[in-house]
Amino acid sequence: MSEEKTELSGPDLTQGVELATVPDGGMLLGHAHGEPVLLARRGDEVFAIGAICTHYGAPLEQGLLVRDTVRCPWHHACFSLRTGEALRAPALDPVSRWLVEDVRDVARQFTPVETRVAAVYVRKKLERVARHSCSPAAGTPESVVIVGGGAAGNAAAEALRREGYAGRVTMLSADESMPCDRPNLSKGFLSDAASDDSNLLRSSKFYKDHEIALHLSARVTTIDTSGRQVQLADGSRHAYDALLLATGAEPVRLDVPGAALPHVHYLRTLADARALVAGALTAKRAVVIGASFIGLEVTASLRARNIEVHVVGTETILMEKVLGPEVGKFLRKLHEDHGVTFHLGTTATTIDKQSVTLKSGERLQADLVVVGIGVRPSISLAEQAGLAIDHGVVVNEYLETNVRGIFAAGDIARWPDRLTGERIRVEHWVVAERQGQTAAHNILGWREPFDHVPFFWTEQYDFGLAYVGHAEHWDKAKIAGSLEHRDCTVTYRLRAQKLAVAVVHRDLEGLRAEVEFERIISRNTSGSPTGKSTVSPARQAQAAIGGS
Ligand SMILES: Cc1cc2nc3c(=O)[nH]c(=O)nc-3n(C[C@H](O)[C@H](O)[C@H](O)COP(=O)(O)OP(=O)(O)OC[C@H]3O[C@@H](n4cnc5c(N)ncnc54)[C@H](O)[C@@H]3O)c2cc1C
Ligand code: FES
Repeated sequence: MSEEKTELSGPDLTQGVELATVPDGGMLLGHAHGEPVLLARRGDEVFAIGAICTHYGAPLEQGLLVRDTVRCPWHHACFSLRTGEALRAPALDPVSRWLVEDVRDVARQFTPVETRVAAVYVRKKLERVARHSCSPAAGTPESVVIVGGGAAGNAAAEALRREGYAGRVTMLSADESMPCDRPNLSKGFLSDAASDDSNLLRSSKFYKDHEIALHLSARVTTIDTSGRQVQLADGSRHAYDALLLATGAEPVRLDVPGAALPHVHYLRTLADARALVAGALTAKRAVVIGASFIGLEVTASLRARNIEVHVVGTETILMEKVLGPEVGKFLRKLHEDHGVTFHLGTTATTIDKQSVTLKSGERLQADLVVVGIGVRPSISLAEQAGLAIDHGVVVNEYLETNVRGIFAAGDIARWPDRLTGERIRVEHWVVAERQGQTAAHNILGWREPFDHVPFFWTEQYDFGLAYVGHAEHWDKAKIAGSLEHRDCTVTYRLRAQKLAVAVVHRDLEGLRAEVEFERIISRNTSGSPTGKSTVSPARQAQAAIGGS
């Protein structure tokens, strides 16, 4: 990061700041040696870490301090103040950590009490805290096979290596491209705000350096649970000691005449996204079938490319079931203000090269069609293997299936939610990554329950909404603030129990809701009112040896 390119604000922390400028539990943005640095104080301890989130670059000083961590305001990644480590996805890389010198003690010795001014100086960037390779505990598998190269699979492979696992790690992905940032596909990449380079989560060098054997276009067709091996479509086999299924979800296909025409697109993989972008380069008029999150994000991105867009959906109010009628009406107006035309309460019956015909008989001209009518979890492999299935692959709190040594994570996993006590399955990026991490820890024998609060976000034009919790059913949605002014909190309750919170441009409220849900989960499970630790015992030990 060069000084010219980085916009720096706040004080030069190498020159020192009075301790009083950083209140207990507060943060101060400054800089050191040309880099933005965040100073954070917890009682007598002062920490300095890199100030920019390693996920999408959010300013961490706008986040929330929780114990000795800071949570990112945008997508709720969590960094250790002691080590800079990314403790929670979606950030996968640490922020830098810096040496802090505190002159209080020196001042106490040489300065008369009445003139003492406590100050802290940020001195130099510190090395990353070295991870100690965990000596294999009894029962640690010699090899791990991960089926799926998406959010959960990638996060699991990385977590295994981060925790010092030295055994064989094989990732088998049916995708033809390396693990990619799916949320970016419908947003930055499709709208042309981000280049194709921004799509891959990691380079091929990363997998090589971390000895993760990544096989692409590698579709697993069967799992032999007694022989502990998987077989691929090409007939090859891979033996495993522990297996993680992270096969994600597949778009529901539209079953109408013309649905297989080349200008009809779906959006799940990087290949899908590239094909759609290629189509968008020459398209003038698009029809988006399905007014889901993906459909609406695609709509916004195509509008950014100045393509006329018509949206067809069976619902009469957008996203009503998930977000409620007020937010649904707001979303419709948001898109209409951007020139989008809706055809709701109807469906497409045929598609030809120039148009889409609706049930009503109306014909919409289209040289590009995008179908986003939902996804189905890819559970056929799990079914074939005889794993317990109930609207997804059933896992316990450790994300282990009913067959010992076989774990499941991400869009396919149906796990016992500690907030409601019900089994839930969600299709969220952050949840999939965190489940991949937790599954990896449990493959290593940590017995770490998955008790993260679900989180997702959506971006359409310059509008952003973040959702914390999970309200499959709710009977009351109360809005505090103003949707119109894009400054509000929507609380979803069922029989008075708060289940989820959606925030519109109120990042701190979203983070506070997450912490509140964590406290409830903690009370529900352990009776401790203080909330559970954000890190496993091994991570706490690791953190304790850090220090700034
Ligand atoms: C365009 C788009 C935008 C999105 N935006 C958001 C967002 O803004 N916020 C949000 O929270 N969520 C978003 N999501 C949802 C999020 O991406 C998913 O919840 C997440 O990717 C799920 O992760 P996963 O690892 O379970 O599955 P995936 O990421 O889908 O990965 C599944 C992997 O399994 C592989 N696979 C499947 N079957 C086999 C097999 N038999 N053998 C080998 N490999 C197999 C696939 O090839 C793939 O590599 C978006 C999704 C899409 C498609
Ligand atoms: S920018 Fe920090 S979590 Fe996304």
